[in-house]
Amino acid sequence: MGWNRWEVDGECGKVKGDRGRVEGRRWRLVAPVCRRDARAPGEQKGGLVAGKLWGLKALRISRRSNPSPIVLSSWFSMPLLELKNVHTYYGSIHALKGISLSVEEGEIVTLIGSNGAGKSTTLRTISGLLKPRQGEVLFRGERIDHLPPHKIVEMGVIQSPEGRRIFPRLTVRENLEVGAFLRNDKAEIARDMERVFHLFPRLYERLNQRGGTLSGGEQQMLAIGRALMGRPRVLLLDEPSMGLAPVLVEQIFSIIGDINAQGTTILLVEQNALMALAIAHRGYVLQTGEIVLADTANALRENKLVQHAYLGIG
Ligand SMILES: Nc1ncnc2c1ncn2[C@@H]1O[C@H](COP(=O)(O)OP(=O)(O)O)[C@@H](O)[C@H]1O
Ligand SMILES: [Mg+2]
Repeated sequence: MGWNRWEVDGECGKVKGDRGRVEGRRWRLVAPVCRRDARAPGEQKGGLVAGKLWGLKALRISRRSNPSPIVLSSWFSMPLLELKNVHTYYGSIHALKGISLSVEEGEIVTLIGSNGAGKSTTLRTISGLLKPRQGEVLFRGERIDHLPPHKIVEMGVIQSPEGRRIFPRLTVRENLEVGAFLRNDKAEIARDMERVFHLFPRLYERLNQRGGTLSGGEQQMLAIGRALMGRPRVLLLDEPSMGLAPVLVEQIFSIIGDINAQGTTILLVEQNALMALAIAHRGYVLQTGEIVLADTANALRENKLVQHAYLGIG
């Protein structure tokens, strides 16, 4: 299908032609929508309608000219996960004050901030454990903020919680099996367990030991391993470095990098900005429930505020 098949019906347009190929990559139209705010960068004025595409974030189609493939390819990824103006409360405590962020497929995005900034609240809101009073949480373009937590897990949004809450009385193997409880594809589960042992050989050595007898570092590995057993499409990690000795922190972060390199998208919440920015592609800085900075990890590392407040420089 060529570009000429792209047509627009009226203002809130339907895009005709529901699948195609751009620069060798396939796309599929999920739902034609009218979103005048969705605009590709560098795009000419005079476009009419945005189509919401799988694989393409948004497409505005000009009546006068077809959009160039270059613009399209730069818009190839719809965010896998997106928060839009999210407000979350604990009773009368306004913990998140309009958080907006996005995670693209394949990225490691980090959310850094001091103790009490709202990092865990953000992850709990994504996981459906807390319901935002205002705003939206979208996964692959669909709202999930009204869904119960188990549905969100089923969709592949899987959290390894703060403080590595593993089951102390269950063995390492049983803890990992719990992570796969929503699945019944036995052969695939066995393969994923192999993958976890490959990432964390230590867990294989401790296979029949109870979780509670593991060291802090091993428990963190188990918590991440258990989350991986759920086949995350996006893995939410809440302070994996917390309470660990520096050498273990390095090890855990290097493994997080490996998990991402194997194709898992990661939202990493951390107080340890130095380590988080070393492995992330992009980052957000959270201060008392608000995002004060958003940039590439490299730019954040060079940022004076970040250096002063979070990296102990200057
Ligand atoms: N269960 C709770 N009840 C009331 N307030 C809470 C609760 N959990 C967190 N908070 C408050 O919400 C804010 C954000 O907390 P949290 O998300 O845990 O921060 P972080 O993970 O960045 O350390 C803090 O002011 C904290 O005191
Ligand atoms: Mg926290």
